[in-house]
Amino acid sequence: MMIMKKKFAVIGYPIKHSKSPQLHEAGFLELEIDASFEKLEIHPDDLSAWLTDEFINYAGVAVTIPHKEAVMKLVDKIAPAAEKIGAINTLYWENEQIVGTNTDCIGALKALQTECPELSEKKVLILGAGGASRGVIFALKTANSKLSIWNRTTSKAEQLAEEFEIEAIKDLKAVDGEDFDIIINTTSVGLKEWESPVPEDFFSSRNIVFDIVYDPLETKFLSDAENVGATTITGDKMLVHQALEQFKIWHGTELEMEIMEQAFFE
Ligand code: ATR
Repeated sequence: MMIMKKKFAVIGYPIKHSKSPQLHEAGFLELEIDASFEKLEIHPDDLSAWLTDEFINYAGVAVTIPHKEAVMKLVDKIAPAAEKIGAINTLYWENEQIVGTNTDCIGALKALQTECPELSEKKVLILGAGGASRGVIFALKTANSKLSIWNRTTSKAEQLAEEFEIEAIKDLKAVDGEDFDIIINTTSVGLKEWESPVPEDFFSSRNIVFDIVYDPLETKFLSDAENVGATTITGDKMLVHQALEQFKIWHGTELEMEIMEQAFFE
């Protein structure tokens, strides 16, 4: 009998800049797993057909922008965390059924725990109310943190605040870093631009400041925080930890963080 190489992939649109293949391939090499990891650009109109016709050839698939929400309607089973977050970033097989789960939330939690192991009762300000924000809120609710959310479009912050039973902040001018232990940017502000969602003098030296943006790694948001002596966490930490979680699901084995962290910078 011929043993087939296990196939994995990341699907998105566009997909050129995805770092998933290099992170997972580093794991294959380290643990001598005979597998491949492709980047597949799939147009939103073709997503449903791809899952029906092509997913069968893959042992697991990572799902990225803009498919994380759309894929919810196309799988056989959804893990509880993904259901509550409303987004799937990982697909795998279970008894011939396609299961969708979400490892972004565990990724966010583990990234934060690199600087703050005990998140319970910590006061956290979350900036942004998009898909990424939902994952971070879910993760920190499970960790029992005290959450506040601000968004440029206030109504969206209020909706999320109601759904997750957390505080909505209407005007950023009414608060500053001193009021919080942890401040997290989940907006796309800072992505390939030198902008920050908060004023330059917002932070306090006691803050732990986390940006999920990883292109660039050093954002204005983190740079302003560093300038007052705050502790900062860069976006690669979340990416690596969510990929480690996928690795565990797909291969049933743990991989050391350093292996993927090193691959991120290659
Ligand atoms: P993702 O899935 O990555 O979270 P998204 O759902 O498109 O992406 O959400 C983008 C987030 O970045 C939103 O919170 C958005 O704020 P609005 O709801 O007001 O649009 C936020 N965002 C994008 N550009 C922004 C800007 N220039 N200033 C402030 N917030 C911004």
